Amino acid sequence: MPLEAARKQSVGASPGDSKAGSRGQGDADAILARVVVEQGFATMDEVQACVRRQREVVAAGPVSDPSQSSLAYFLIDAGAITRRQLDRLKLQVEAEGSGQKIPGYVVLHKLGAGAMATVYKARQLSLDRLVAIKILPRKFSSDPQFIERFYAEGRAAAQMNHPNIVQAYDVGKAGEFHYFVMEYVEGTTVYDQIVRQKRYSEKEAIDVIIQVAEALEHAHQRGLIHRDVKPKNIMMNLAGVVKLADMGLARAISDREAAEAEAGKAFGTPYYISPEQIRGDLDVGPPADIYSLGATLYHMVTGRVPFEGKDPAEVMRRHLKSPPVPPDQINPKLSNALCEVLEMMMAKRREDRYQNCSDLLSDLRLIQRGEKPVIAHKTIIGAPVEALSQIVAEEASRPAEIAVDKTRQPSVFSHPMVQGMLVLLLLSLAANVVLWMR
Ligand SMILES: Nc1ncnc2c1ncn2[C@@H]1O[C@H](COP(=O)(O)OP(=O)(O)OP(=O)(O)O)[C@@H](O)[C@H]1O
Ligand SMILES: [Mg+2]
Repeated sequence: MPLEAARKQSVGASPGDSKAGSRGQGDADAILARVVVEQGFATMDEVQACVRRQREVVAAGPVSDPSQSSLAYFLIDAGAITRRQLDRLKLQVEAEGSGQKIPGYVVLHKLGAGAMATVYKARQLSLDRLVAIKILPRKFSSDPQFIERFYAEGRAAAQMNHPNIVQAYDVGKAGEFHYFVMEYVEGTTVYDQIVRQKRYSEKEAIDVIIQVAEALEHAHQRGLIHRDVKPKNIMMNLAGVVKLADMGLARAISDREAAEAEAGKAFGTPYYISPEQIRGDLDVGPPADIYSLGATLYHMVTGRVPFEGKDPAEVMRRHLKSPPVPPDQINPKLSNALCEVLEMMMAKRREDRYQNCSDLLSDLRLIQRGEKPVIAHKTIIGAPVEALSQIVAEEASRPAEIAVDKTRQPSVFSHPMVQGMLVLLLLSLAANVVLWMR
């Protein structure tokens, strides 16, 4: 395998194995060699030529500037990468280097990187199983608030045990790096799917969203709000089982202190964030996750995010003020039922949304069976949201009724008072006629 060969070649030439430098430099060179080939900056042959050149220089004796014996120096010298490219690659090399130093794990390769961390596939030696390890880059390690959020992710996920939630295994610190070990999900994310296939069919989307709603129901019942539900955090394994990842911004609802510390700041990704998170409200509850799940569903079935804008501020303004383009205008194949559910999930006022995932699930399961979403339907014609579970229960226990057209108004003449007045009017008319004839 060429990348493995690049790694071995570079390790073979590492100063750590000879007289020229530390073991750390050798490890960094090995990772750099692999990353440079992996990302297409240089071919295997070019990297190997640089490694040979490095070996010759090191063998010739000590150099005055130690940086001139690093592989990076020879790669730049040979024109394989620029200094600017090297600076960008350094962050990845640094994080990977840290991953390789986590006792008990062997890092295999990088799975992906997000805004705050890099995720690697690794093997846990004690249990001989594959895991995913999320490692914070060093630049974040000095920010106590950030570290607290990172550990909160571990603690929150550790409280969960649900087939649709990525299981947390371990959290810790190795050297200067903080890491989080979790279940490895072999598969893809909803984000990757949207990028690849553009749109989900209504049925496929509902199947996925039901599984996420079940995961959220489990978390909410334990007092945890996800706060970052979005296509990138919804994974699917090879068996098609949905796994909700990153209870990263999750926080106990009861943790008022933490809420106050965060008040006024908007967390989350602007395309899916709820209006109350944008406003920095203190009590962000289940309806916030339901809004984000609605925005995700909208994206899945229309192929478009609900609100676009030239910058995050504009996207957020639209979440607060603008109605989204009706989803069936973008995808006319969508059923009315799904549009009603989406409308309720994405209501601007949290009071107008589903109040919990149990209500949402009951509507989603109805439309999955081709029936009307009772709660969304009642809400749209004006019933108060709080009473909805009650309505659903009553509705289920009531025998089927013949539909009455309630839109037809009864005639005013059918009212007894009006009828009485008509009789009096007729009597007075008759009396007047009699009087006049006399
Ligand atoms: N448990 C896991 N198993 C397999 N791959 C994973 C796992 N967790 C994350 N990944 C991969 O790593 C990538 C980076 O994940 P990360 O959570 O750091 O960022 P993100 O959710 O993609 O984006 P953002 O930073 O915007 O939230 C994901 O896109 C996914 O491809
Ligand atoms: Mg993520």
